[in-house]
Amino acid sequence: MVPEVAARQHLEMIDLVVRDTLRQANMRISDIDAVAATAGPGLIGGVAVGTVTAKAIAAARSIPYYAVNHLEGHALSPRLADDIEFPYLLLLVSGGHTQLLAVTGPGHYQRYGTTMDDAAGEAFDKCAKAMGLGYPGGPAIEAAAQSGDATAIALPRPLKSSPGCHFSFSGLKTALFNRLTQLGGPDKAPLNDLAASLQQAIADCLADRTAHAMAAFLADHPPRAGVMPTLVIAGGVAANKHIFAQLAARAGSAGFRLSVPPAHLCTDNAAMIAWAALERQGAPDPLDFAPRPRWPLDPKAAPPPGRGVRS
Ligand code: KG4
Ligand code: ZN
Repeated sequence: MVPEVAARQHLEMIDLVVRDTLRQANMRISDIDAVAATAGPGLIGGVAVGTVTAKAIAAARSIPYYAVNHLEGHALSPRLADDIEFPYLLLLVSGGHTQLLAVTGPGHYQRYGTTMDDAAGEAFDKCAKAMGLGYPGGPAIEAAAQSGDATAIALPRPLKSSPGCHFSFSGLKTALFNRLTQLGGPDKAPLNDLAASLQQAIADCLADRTAHAMAAFLADHPPRAGVMPTLVIAGGVAANKHIFAQLAARAGSAGFRLSVPPAHLCTDNAAMIAWAALERQGAPDPLDFAPRPRWPLDPKAAPPPGRGVRS
């Protein structure tokens, strides 16, 4: 992705998107009583376009403006579709982030783990690209894996069984690249078996680290008698049915109930950004709020050991 090109395309499309959305919703701009827009984290050019547009609408109409953290949109999205109370344990798995957090309320997060290198979605995307399966990689790998054998190709499970809740997917990605080359490249290799084996390895890593986080969460937030603690998966990778099944089994044996938003609320969407603003219950932001390229949900969390640390 070229940041400058992405920002220009945002600029070209934004008016059209606003007009189209209003038309589809059968609304006029005068019907809107507040504006929420993603203000980070991410490539700052695109984020700035959305921010400036939202501020312009808010200023012109004298209505409140909400600067929303994209990650908070994902983190609170399960409450849009399901009756979930705070606190809950969140596995946030998107294209850029893989994190385990306790969510105690809007704006209140305690991070247990994050990735030391690539995100799970990034591993899906980069491996799918190498295998010639296109973008986004997650759905393509899931589809190919349907008719593959998950035990056919031995792949590592980085950090599995080591203490803590951090993730690492870079070594798994490299191992897949190597196996792909050994097997003759994307034209000759058994792509379905590779896809199934990769999906299983990622699911195993997510389940292993999440099991540690469930124990940490129970120690920090002992549930009231008769109330089951909740594990939520959000972000694009949460749309993966195999990963869901794997985590459902692990959650069940740890005494947690598992909730996953419907697929269209897992991948990036505007409803979750509006919802995150609604959850703040009338605490809007000033119109001089500056967009943030980095915006961790838990600013106090210690970085994981290793290089290439993500927030
Ligand atoms: O949350 P999202 O839509 O955008 C970001 O904020 O990153 O997540 C996109 C990521 C991509 O890496 C995509 O490959 C992955 O979610 N993804 C999936 C599936 N659907 C989307 N990964 C695995 N299985 C899926 N079915
Ligand atoms: Zn996202």
